[in-house]
Amino acid sequence: MSPEAKVLEALLREPRLFPPPEHFSQKANTQETELFKIKDPEAFWGQCASLIHWFKPWERILEWDYPQARWFTGGTLNVSYNCLDRHLGSFRRNKAALIWEGEPGDSCVLTYRDLYREVNKFASVLRSLGIKRGDRVTIYLPMIPELPIAMLACARIGAIHNVVFAGFSAHALQERINDIGSRLLITADGGFRRGQVIPLKDNADLALQNAPTVERVIVTKRTGHHINMQLGRDLWWHEIMHTASLYIEPEPMEAEDPLFILHTSGTTGKPKGVVHTTGGYLVGVTMTAKYVFDLKEEDVYWCTADIGWITGHSYVVYGPLSNGATVLIYEGAPDYPQPNRFWEIIEKYGVNIFYTAPTAIRSFMRWGPSYPARHDLSSLRLLGTVGEPINPEAWMWYYIHIGRRRCPIVDTWWQTETGMILISPLPGETPLKPGSATRPLPGIEADVVDEKGNPVPPGKGGYLVIKKPWPAMMRTIYGDHRRYVEQYWSRIPGCYFTGDGARKDADGYFWILGRVDDVINVSGHRIGTMEVESALVDHQAVAEAAVISRSHPIKGQAIVAFVTLKEGFTPSPELAQELKEHVVKIIGAIARPEQILFTPELPKTRSGKIMRRLLRDIAEGRALGDTSTLADPSSLERLRQAYAEEA
Ligand code: PRX
Repeated sequence: MSPEAKVLEALLREPRLFPPPEHFSQKANTQETELFKIKDPEAFWGQCASLIHWFKPWERILEWDYPQARWFTGGTLNVSYNCLDRHLGSFRRNKAALIWEGEPGDSCVLTYRDLYREVNKFASVLRSLGIKRGDRVTIYLPMIPELPIAMLACARIGAIHNVVFAGFSAHALQERINDIGSRLLITADGGFRRGQVIPLKDNADLALQNAPTVERVIVTKRTGHHINMQLGRDLWWHEIMHTASLYIEPEPMEAEDPLFILHTSGTTGKPKGVVHTTGGYLVGVTMTAKYVFDLKEEDVYWCTADIGWITGHSYVVYGPLSNGATVLIYEGAPDYPQPNRFWEIIEKYGVNIFYTAPTAIRSFMRWGPSYPARHDLSSLRLLGTVGEPINPEAWMWYYIHIGRRRCPIVDTWWQTETGMILISPLPGETPLKPGSATRPLPGIEADVVDEKGNPVPPGKGGYLVIKKPWPAMMRTIYGDHRRYVEQYWSRIPGCYFTGDGARKDADGYFWILGRVDDVINVSGHRIGTMEVESALVDHQAVAEAAVISRSHPIKGQAIVAFVTLKEGFTPSPELAQELKEHVVKIIGAIARPEQILFTPELPKTRSGKIMRRLLRDIAEGRALGDTSTLADPSSLERLRQAYAEEA
């Protein structure tokens, strides 16, 4: 049995079951609605649609022409109206929408009225620059209030935003801008991370050397360090906001109009521009934010994800704001200046709901329980996790040291492509098993199947698939609809293919095993092996590269690269370092390989395919699998020796 299978066997025997605490169940949002009694998925989603405001009611819940779904057709709405205007008629007008804390310790609060004003003003700026409905706008900002303001302003006028995570490099930014043909770039002079300045504007300048569609750049001042402003192209945010109008009519959008494009990694070297729509997306994130996070009027809700990822789009910005919640945003790192920063913030603002990633929890475990123990965390009532499987040990640590055995944990499974949470407990309803995302949410039909789409029996591994459309599902890959159909809807007959392996247990609980494709999940971030390989072969010394993952105690998975060099180059620790930096330059720090291993040749089949399976065996220190198809078996033994020496 492989080590993963052994871990899973242990997981499936996980005997602990945590029933919902009585005090939580009694007041849970799910108790106050008839919604979850509706068994027909379409009727269920039809009912969920009334959680948002429609300018014109929709005519049909779903038009399903496999694999194309159209939700709430005939309806018109505006996402910014739903997140802002509709809250102004009540006491929410003066309620905190955003509580923001910068890494250096500066902070501010924006009420719904404040946020509404800033979004309207910025929407007017966008209009004055000629940005109109359907135009693409790239946003490359750190975690500062201008980021949600810019997103909501785009939504207000019907422009499609494309947020690029501020940790991505100039090259990655350029690639994304060119993929979607943005007219405008919104950035900052820089951002703070562990006390250092990330030079966002310098990166943007580099990216724009070859991004001809961008006409203008709006720059917000965050760090105050010197940057170059290009006359005629670059504008300061604070200057153009002076003359902005205070009100811009929200554009009535069709339900199926795109709201945003967000790139994610897949099996090829090129990131995919995942397209999300207006109506279905907003219904999906509004419903899940309300019931999975049990959002209450008086809650302070904190999701630690960067807005540059889907978690930030759906559960920092759109889901919570559509519900009129108070959202906390923190700019920086969890261990800056000390590893107690998160707990200090929870105590300072009285955070009630806290949503983070297993990799962060494993770091907290390593730093030790004394950091949270110093702080009053009694305001917390619900915890969440997302991004990767959580090991039961980390789950228990989170439960005991952060939730103090009082707070349910919602382990939420979903993806950039799904737009919203699909598999998760409903707190107050679902008994929890540490390490399991439990069951699909109402309205979602998920299963574990074999290659032909037949369900596998409980306890057996298979592919995680979704069998019916859901409102927040992606509609296409920008500019490549064929790839969308092929990758997601053609692998398993009749189903949406998630790219994840899973098992179900006898109670119907889902246990996610991780990716089954060439995607590596490093600290909850998706990185394509091909992306890293193409970054490596872009370096003049590299002839060939094969990238695989190995398990890592904090990151979940780590990137290992096997590299062959061109004639005239010799392996050295300096060159390994240089190659790591080259990957950082091409993609960003999240893709930095943990280890580079030089090898005179890569194990290949007789037809020339690299045998990654064997490389993974080497990296994990496992007995080698079947080597009979190898062209030159002795190459593998040399490689194994080299790896053992390196390790
Ligand atoms: O492998 C699954 C893992 O993260 C992948 C999706 O990554 P991304 O599109 O970047 O979105 C991350 C945040 C939604 C999935 O295919 N994943 C996400 N959540 C979980 C998870 N694996 C196990 N348990 C989860 N709760």
